[in-house]
Amino acid sequence: MRGAQITGWGLSLPDTVVTNADFEARLDTSDKWIVERTGIKERRHGGTTSGLAVESARRALERAGRRGQEIDLLVLATTSPDQTVPATSSWVHHQLGCRGAAFDLNAACAGFVYGLVTAVALLDAGHERALVIGSDTLSQITDQNDRNTAVLFGDGSGAVVVEATEGEPLILAHDLGLDGSLTRILYCDRGGFIVMEGREVFRKAVRATVESAERVLKQADVTAEEITLFIPHQANIRIIDAVGQRLGIDPARYAICLDHTGNTSAASCGIALSEAADAGRLKDGDLVLFSGFGAGMTWASAVVRWGGAPVATIGAGGPGERE
Ligand code: COA
Repeated sequence: MRGAQITGWGLSLPDTVVTNADFEARLDTSDKWIVERTGIKERRHGGTTSGLAVESARRALERAGRRGQEIDLLVLATTSPDQTVPATSSWVHHQLGCRGAAFDLNAACAGFVYGLVTAVALLDAGHERALVIGSDTLSQITDQNDRNTAVLFGDGSGAVVVEATEGEPLILAHDLGLDGSLTRILYCDRGGFIVMEGREVFRKAVRATVESAERVLKQADVTAEEITLFIPHQANIRIIDAVGQRLGIDPARYAICLDHTGNTSAASCGIALSEAADAGRLKDGDLVLFSGFGAGMTWASAVVRWGGAPVATIGAGGPGERE
């Protein structure tokens, strides 16, 4: 497989902070319940899926030292597109001045990892530089008067620039999957709000995430002890703890943003990755385990080798180039 490397990362959160106290003031809930049952203290509301995506992508491009026109593949993972048609990635592609292909990908909260795996496969097929963005504004499809769901979700975006190189592969193993018989435990009809059987989602999420993560560790021939950073989908700290315990990864190696972002769906792994990278928690050669799950019910895991060989000076052209 062709080499690839993450060369830039960035995140974007809307300005409006919604604390547990804000919910406490108008719903039959409490800060204590929310923190103990979910690990969430606050989340952000606002913005649009495309606007947040553009902002996180600009930060990722800046970090990579790249301009939009050097990107020939844009994958936008989202469950909350701004419009039905065209794809939200069209707006993002235009505002960033990208070249080549762009498309939306809906794998719900597993979207970022689905997007990363898809982009890397397309780099292997000949594209040169990809932007992978997870962006969601679930506050718009959440009934803010339903305590079962309102406290859980927040808005945000996380992005990475991934470049083809002549070095090592980025993804050592991946596992994408779905159990479509579970569509009714978590869904949102057009024009409606998210409906969720929380307890059932919790149980299935733990099982799916553990099994998927175990598959990629085995495929990559890597032990849990060798994982420097575990980047799980950020839905509930109790789900993350249950998964971490079963895999044998101690909490010091988790990347967590859930406490201040809530569940940002397709954005969550990108945000957690960006915060961890900004905090200097990753160095060249480190192994990162991503694992996400979401409505569908989808799951996605990947073992990623961080850094590696310097980016080769591959030409700007690619299969998406039309000039
Ligand atoms: N404040 C206070 N009480 C609440 C509440 C809130 N915000 N939300 C739910 N409750 C109540 C329930 O109504 C229930 O009351 P009842 O026993 O009178 O019916 C009680 O708390 C316990 O519900 P239970 O479902 O057992 O709680 P839980 O420990 O499973 O936690 C969730 C509920 C939703 C936090 C948890 O099930 C969860 O996180 N599930 C997964 C959700 C998820 O990840 N969704 C996104 C997938 S990508």
